[in-house]
Amino acid sequence: MASDITSRRVGASGLLVSAAGLGCNNFGRPGTRTETLEGTRAVLDAAIEAGITFLDTADMYGGEPGLSETLMGEALRGRRDEVVLATKFGHFGRDMGYPPSGAKASRTYVRRAVEASLTRLQTDRIDLYQLHTPDPRTPIAETLDVLADLVREGKVRYIGHSNLAGWQIAEAHFIAAERAGVPFVSAQNHYSLLARAAEREVLPAVERFGIGFLPFFPLHNGLLTGKFSRDHAPSDTRIMRQRAHVWEDAPWDALEAFQTFCDERGITMLEATFGWLLARPSLSSVIAGATSPEQVRANAAAASAWTPSADELAALDALFPLPEDPGAQV
Ligand SMILES: NC(=O)c1ccc[n+]([C@@H]2O[C@H](COP(=O)([O-])OP(=O)(O)OC[C@H]3O[C@@H](n4cnc5c(N)ncnc54)[C@H](OP(=O)(O)O)[C@@H]3O)[C@@H](O)[C@H]2O)c1
Repeated sequence: MASDITSRRVGASGLLVSAAGLGCNNFGRPGTRTETLEGTRAVLDAAIEAGITFLDTADMYGGEPGLSETLMGEALRGRRDEVVLATKFGHFGRDMGYPPSGAKASRTYVRRAVEASLTRLQTDRIDLYQLHTPDPRTPIAETLDVLADLVREGKVRYIGHSNLAGWQIAEAHFIAAERAGVPFVSAQNHYSLLARAAEREVLPAVERFGIGFLPFFPLHNGLLTGKFSRDHAPSDTRIMRQRAHVWEDAPWDALEAFQTFCDERGITMLEATFGWLLARPSLSSVIAGATSPEQVRANAAAASAWTPSADELAALDALFPLPEDPGAQV
């Protein structure tokens, strides 16, 4: 039975998403239970069952590029209308085999990319199509034009961006308005209690322009779930397989004080992490990754477990302050 996860609007748009979402970069990832179709299906079924219906993937995710989308397309057969599908194009880290030009947000590239994603996802439309990372070789006006055409053709419902700086978010907003075009409705950037740099330029920009915010790595790759400690790191985790520095360099004094904060309130670290994120202005959905149905169920429950007071938010600010801006004028 679906839980009582609330829906939120993505910014000022008409796109509604579940406040707890599912990051899908584990699907098709070697070494995880979600490497296979069975593992992917188990997590997706548990997510839908728990009310997590907003799914965020990208064309490049998976052991081989495209595999996350392919597995999702297969696992979601017959259930497409129960989910809101977000995907991305244009990351420079992976060669998707589209036109050989260096530009990954150009008119030609985007046309090829969207058709390939639609085919892999086995759908006739993408609910949120996101520019994965800024493309210095393509003027943002060209990218906005081709994305607007896709919206008019019904292949894409809404458009978003990811990894843009604050000034790029403002530039894209004004260029879309100037051309009476289709605006970006979402911004996806790195953000968690342990990575708050987006508060300097990105969050003020998205608030100002009515854009919905989707934090990536919201659980700091799992560090903020409470399963790690200063002395113990479970080996069957992405952090210990691929990103051991996240555990080795963690601010353990602050994390231990955070655990005490949670214990005093009778909540888990996972619940406090979700509650803090969902209290951020402009936040549309916590797109946490998951490698098992149990994790998905815990994340769904955490999304409605705790709402921080103003005093509690201030206490967490003190524990996890925004690092000093090295470029600030004093
Ligand atoms: N736009 C971009 O450039 C960009 C970049 C990166 C990611 N993303 C997006 O952000 C999403 C989330 O990223 P992420 O999954 O790497 O980081 P994350 O959401 O911060 O961490 C998720 C990881 O924590 C562990 N976990 C999750 N729920 C748990 C629970 N209830 N109990 C215990 N462990 C739990 C799982 O890993 P283990 O089981 O391995 O411990 C899971 O894969 C991605 O799927 C993707 O959609 C976007």
